[in-house]
Amino acid sequence: MTVTGRSELQHPRFSRQYLKIAAEADRRGGADHRDRLLAGLSGRVLEVGAGQGRNVRHYPETVTEVVALEPDDTLRTAAERAAASAPVPVAVVAGEAADLPGVDGAFDAVVASLVLCSVDDLPGVLAEMRRVLRPGGQMRFYEHVRSPHRWAGLLQDAITPLWSRAAGGCHPNRDTESALRAAGFTVTEIDRFGFSFSPLVPKTRHIIGTAVRA
Ligand SMILES: C[S@@+](CC[C@H](N)C(=O)[O-])C[C@H]1O[C@@H](n2cnc3c(N)ncnc32)[C@H](O)[C@@H]1O
Repeated sequence: MTVTGRSELQHPRFSRQYLKIAAEADRRGGADHRDRLLAGLSGRVLEVGAGQGRNVRHYPETVTEVVALEPDDTLRTAAERAAASAPVPVAVVAGEAADLPGVDGAFDAVVASLVLCSVDDLPGVLAEMRRVLRPGGQMRFYEHVRSPHRWAGLLQDAITPLWSRAAGGCHPNRDTESALRAAGFTVTEIDRFGFSFSPLVPKTRHIIGTAVRA
């Protein structure tokens, strides 16, 4: 199923580049990260900022439905193609993280994959994710985050304004783990590791994990 509509959040030039960047990243280990991100999920899942749908083939068959929310037209069109051959039912919908579909507690799990770096209002988006998650439901995250090393972190702070303009609003210096805790999530599992999405860029800190409503 596809729900059409248009969001103001359009980054066509970055999106066309991201189609290639994500394919390369998945060849370099990103596909394994997506398996780890989604392993063991079941029931109804909301994936926020689903991009071109690179996660959809990684959902386990215990998932009964994925609602894949994506604001950008270029990426959403590609996600619709990916959804057609997914192992589980995937409904691709237009929309934004600040206003998620579904009543309170509508989903068994919410997935954020390389998207919390790009939202404008991170606390507001996390509150919205918490709202649509049922009590005991899981928030799964796979994100690149600010370096724990002083100089690398300061460098990320310095390049963020320019980087953000070139890369669809991405902030390389987000402390997403702290933001999750501040939003009232309990982080129950987390793996912190270095990963480089391209041979042309150095490794940056990534996290994969699970959080539940505290
Ligand atoms: C780096 S891409 C990641 C795409 C995909 N989740 C993945 O794992 O490959 C960032 C994604 O976040 C989406 N995005 C950015 N701001 C958003 C917002 N406010 N609400 C929902 N999605 C957003 C972009 O359109 C894009 O699809």
